[in-house]
Amino acid sequence: MRPFVFVNLAMSADGKLSTRERRQVKISGREDFARVDRIKAGSDAVMVGIGTVLADNPSLTVKSSELKAMRVQTGALENPVRIVIDSRARTPPDADILHKGPGRRIIAVSRQAPEERISRLAPFAEVRVFGDEKVDMSALLAFLHTEGVRRVMVEGGGTLIWSLFAEDLVDEFITFVGNMVIGGASAPTPADGSGFALEREFTRLKLAGMRQCDDGVLLTWTVEREG
Ligand SMILES: NC(=O)c1ccc[n+]([C@@H]2O[C@H](COP(=O)([O-])OP(=O)(O)OC[C@H]3O[C@@H](n4cnc5c(N)ncnc54)[C@H](OP(=O)(O)O)[C@@H]3O)[C@@H](O)[C@H]2O)c1
Repeated sequence: MRPFVFVNLAMSADGKLSTRERRQVKISGREDFARVDRIKAGSDAVMVGIGTVLADNPSLTVKSSELKAMRVQTGALENPVRIVIDSRARTPPDADILHKGPGRRIIAVSRQAPEERISRLAPFAEVRVFGDEKVDMSALLAFLHTEGVRRVMVEGGGTLIWSLFAEDLVDEFITFVGNMVIGGASAPTPADGSGFALEREFTRLKLAGMRQCDDGVLLTWTVEREG
């Protein structure tokens, strides 16, 4: 058993998540920002890869005080469980995700993580081992399910999202497409990694929603599975 997993991200009109230097850029506007805050507040956990932590230093907190209050009223903590996928425990001990806002944090590492880095992170987060090389995402999701996590929001980046598609662990894919061209063959895209080689391997999606949002378009896709 695993939680429902959905990806939410913002990309440029030409399908880039950031610049070729992996510098964070503003792609969406106020309406999308508020939407992302709402869906985050409606999730049990929110997850990013270590590449995103090193590039953007996100806190992944819920921003609106009303949404935080609503979560608390229902018996939840102000923020969803915040999770970093980080085989080698490279999360900086002063990263915002470890310090901003209350709530549970999990650094998911693999057996590659040096003990000394684990002990530097241990005062600020639960450091849990899943897998030998990269973080074993199926094992992590199964663990989260046993912890009562039913809805996981994945906020990037492209390397983590690719792995989740490759392992058929995504249920919904939400993209905000913004009104700019960033360009660059090496700029991150929503699903980087090695990519599927064969057509029969492609993840097949069904369009579940499409609307204008700010100066861009919001697309919601569900993953189609046979049977
Ligand atoms: N526009 C948006 O919505 C948005 C959202 C998020 C990020 N971004 C951008 O995306 C870029 C960062 O993305 P990224 O692709 O470099 O990094 P990422 O996907 O955030 O993190 C990838 C890293 O996670 C670790 N990892 C551990 N186990 C893994 C597994 N099973 N599968 C995949 N990764 C695993 C690997 O490093 P180790 O082996 O060292 O653990 C891997 O290199 C930044 O430029 C950021 O600004 C944009």
